[in-house]
Amino acid sequence: MSQDEAKRNAAAAAMEFVESGMTLGLGTGSTAAFFVEFLAEEISDGLDVRCVPTSVATFEQAAALGIPLLPVEQVERIHLTVDGADEIDPHACLIKGGGAALLREKIIANASDHMVVIADESKAVETLGAFPLPVEVSPFGFTITAKKVFDALKTSGVDQPIVKLRESPVGKRPLVTDGGNYILDCRCKEIPSAQAAALALSVVPGVVEHGLFINLARTIILGDDEGAQILEFEY
Ligand code: A5P
Repeated sequence: MSQDEAKRNAAAAAMEFVESGMTLGLGTGSTAAFFVEFLAEEISDGLDVRCVPTSVATFEQAAALGIPLLPVEQVERIHLTVDGADEIDPHACLIKGGGAALLREKIIANASDHMVVIADESKAVETLGAFPLPVEVSPFGFTITAKKVFDALKTSGVDQPIVKLRESPVGKRPLVTDGGNYILDCRCKEIPSAQAAALALSVVPGVVEHGLFINLARTIILGDDEGAQILEFEY
């Protein structure tokens, strides 16, 4: 099976949640990019929506495809956000931020009436943590913050976290997010309590946002080579 086919099937299935008149949040990553392509096709066939991108990369893709975009400051209501994920547990808790867009993604998801997550089925896990947890931090004092992030994860029950500054793919320097911050990738192997980790990280000064998305995704769409499975959650 091609992973791209599974991602495409998940993205295609998300189109059934889209209706004319909606304001949509557009996620970031390769799966979300397939959704943006499907959306552009429907818009050229008459679908009437306005969109808010969650990253510069998605903004550029959507603008190039002629998708109507709204500056985030003008958004009053977001009916639906469709975004990818790096890991999804059985309670629809997510790890996000592999594409470094977690801050904007969380702001938009949290402001949305409905968040739909699209992913290939390999993203579904029993327990979060095999994927390194991204934590967005202020560049000022990031080495101090990294130690406090380590302590917070330990306190929350992670056995031996390894906290590493994410580097830019071009050159040996820190990756800078769209918001001008750094990313600490935290190797946890297993996060025994996503809630406890989220709470502990959120009170560390210098942490701008963490990549644990809890009680945000109401629909999870897992694509495979044949189609997609749709799971609904209530909070
Ligand atoms: C972006 O920061 C992430 O939250 C993405 O949603 C995540 O990395 C999923 O990416 P893929 O769809 O490329 O796997």
